[in-house]
Amino acid sequence: MNKLILVTGGTGYIGSHTVVELMNVGFDVVIIDNLSNSEKSVLDGIAEITGRRAYFEQFDLCDKEKLDNFFKVYKKLDAVIHFAAYKSVGESVEKPLKYYQNNLTSLMNLLECMVNFNIPHFVFSSSATVYGQPDQLPVTEKASFKPADSPYGNTKQIAEEIIYDTVSVNPNLQAISLRYFNPIGAHSSALIGELPTGVPDNLVPFITQTAAGVRTELKVFGDDYNTPDGSAIRDYINVVDLAKAHVVSIKRMIENKTKSNPEVFNLGTGKGTSVLEIVKAFENVTGEKLKYKIVDRREGDVESVYADTKLANEELGWKAEISSEDTLLSAWNWEKNIRDI
Ligand code: WQD
Repeated sequence: MNKLILVTGGTGYIGSHTVVELMNVGFDVVIIDNLSNSEKSVLDGIAEITGRRAYFEQFDLCDKEKLDNFFKVYKKLDAVIHFAAYKSVGESVEKPLKYYQNNLTSLMNLLECMVNFNIPHFVFSSSATVYGQPDQLPVTEKASFKPADSPYGNTKQIAEEIIYDTVSVNPNLQAISLRYFNPIGAHSSALIGELPTGVPDNLVPFITQTAAGVRTELKVFGDDYNTPDGSAIRDYINVVDLAKAHVVSIKRMIENKTKSNPEVFNLGTGKGTSVLEIVKAFENVTGEKLKYKIVDRREGDVESVYADTKLANEELGWKAEISSEDTLLSAWNWEKNIRDI
């Protein structure tokens, strides 16, 4: 019998790509999603790519009674990957309690069920945001947390602490936290991708929407950083590469290869790229001219952050493989697909 993995937030951006990679290697998947920031049609995209359908349960993880009932029905789960969370930095500043309430309650409910129902393996969707502006670059997993810039970032820090404390007294529950740098791009089929609601906060969806004519121009937030071209530097990682790291993490736990509990890995390319370099690369690879202007820095942005990927490469045995050109092209193909361009 195939192993069964629960993916919370499985109709979301990173979740849906991970469901595809899990199913591609033969896992069965059940998704829990309340569709607060995703659409049910994503399930069709996943089915078209993989030739199989994921099981789907629509409810909110903060509803403990429903979650308990779910675990009573799906007794044979082999692992849980937890993506479901609110993720808008700006909104979290406006509505901190919404973020603490949702992101932390759902995590605690899930962990409690996993302990009670003896589900042994847990992967958590963490973020490079926990590092703030690191003292040293590239940043390793050993770097200490910096005071969070937003309630969103704080929920990721607190979540990692909750996981640490929980597995410390529940050694039968093994956890891996994956700290994502900046996930971008879409599946090469253009059947699934990122579906931002309203005005995108993130750089690449804003770029593709500008090229598609949905936005008038891109605002580049700051050109006075202490970087070669003055714009801020990030580590942009292809979402399919990122998804594959979750499959590797699940296999690692199933095969008892973990060396500590929890384990923590950076997921990035190891390469820093500036905002202006992304703009140029997008123009080169798509042939689209992008209208942009330089504006003031965005509050809360750090100057430069990119991953030391040694631990993920050597210990986890995972490496980002897809080129930045293919990645930007996949983002553009996805945008064109949803806009019928
Ligand atoms: C990247 C760069 C912007 C938009 C955030 C979260 C992080 C993670 C990913 C996930 C920055 C610049 C952006 C625009 C711009 N969270 N930019 N014009 O801020 O590195 O990370 O998303 O769920 O936790 O903090 O990503 O894509 O917003 O910005 O110039 O219109 O692009 O200033 O330098 P960020 P981003």
